[in-house]
Amino acid sequence: MNSTTQFRYDGVSRSFHWIMAFLIAWQLLKFFDRIDDGEHWVGQTLVPWHISIGVLVLLLVVLRMFWAAGRKGDRATHIPATSAPAKLGHFLLYVGMVLLPITGILVMLGGGHGLAVFGIELAAEGEEIAWMSSIGGLHSPIAWLTLIMIVGHIGMALMHHFVKKDGVLQRML
Ligand code: HEM
Ligand code: HEM
Repeated sequence: MNSTTQFRYDGVSRSFHWIMAFLIAWQLLKFFDRIDDGEHWVGQTLVPWHISIGVLVLLLVVLRMFWAAGRKGDRATHIPATSAPAKLGHFLLYVGMVLLPITGILVMLGGGHGLAVFGIELAAEGEEIAWMSSIGGLHSPIAWLTLIMIVGHIGMALMHHFVKKDGVLQRML
């Protein structure tokens, strides 16, 4: 275990964190489809990658969890007062990163749309599958909840850096 100020995440963990933060921020641009039905630059240029990037996020989060599991003894420590909420917050971010792609895939398969990732067809168009569609209906609510978690997470990271000045942000930089 490392002290709060000295610990720094290893390069692989930091790479996972920032690459995935970038990709998930891109994914959240899907909310912009609510404006003019996506008939704007963001909707026509960035959002069409939603399915491909979403499946990539699923692959990355699985690899990231294996990596984190292999480094169990090398975790950041937190001061006791905020340890439980910090761990719970990070856990819920993982839950969002896993459930969003899974429910997204269920939206596509349940609707009979098939699944193509970066131009490669993984599943052909077919019949609608009601149970998949109904679980897929959770995709949007989970996206909203994950967005709230991310905003809170960024707020806490900035609070540690600018108010508490305790080196927590540097662990991930
Ligand atoms: C990290 C992964 C993902 C994130 C953060 C994410 C986020 C979002 C967001 C924010 C929306 C808009 C919801 C709304 O306006 O209420 C959305 C909608 C949608 N997403 Fe994703 N998504 C992810 C993965 C996927 C994947 C892998 C697929 C499909 C394979 C997918 C398919 C869809 C579809 C079809 C919609 C429109 C239908 C709906 O809102 O239920 N998403 N997603
Ligand atoms: C989509 C956006 C993001 C997600 C999903 C996310 C997720 C996570 C997760 C799950 C952890 C726990 C450590 C790990 O397993 O790797 C973590 C740690 C961390 N994140 Fe993020 N993050 C995001 C964006 C950001 C941003 C924008 C910042 C900075 C402003 C940030 C700062 C940090 C810091 C400082 C830690 C280490 C906290 C500690 O050691 O207690 N994250 N993040």
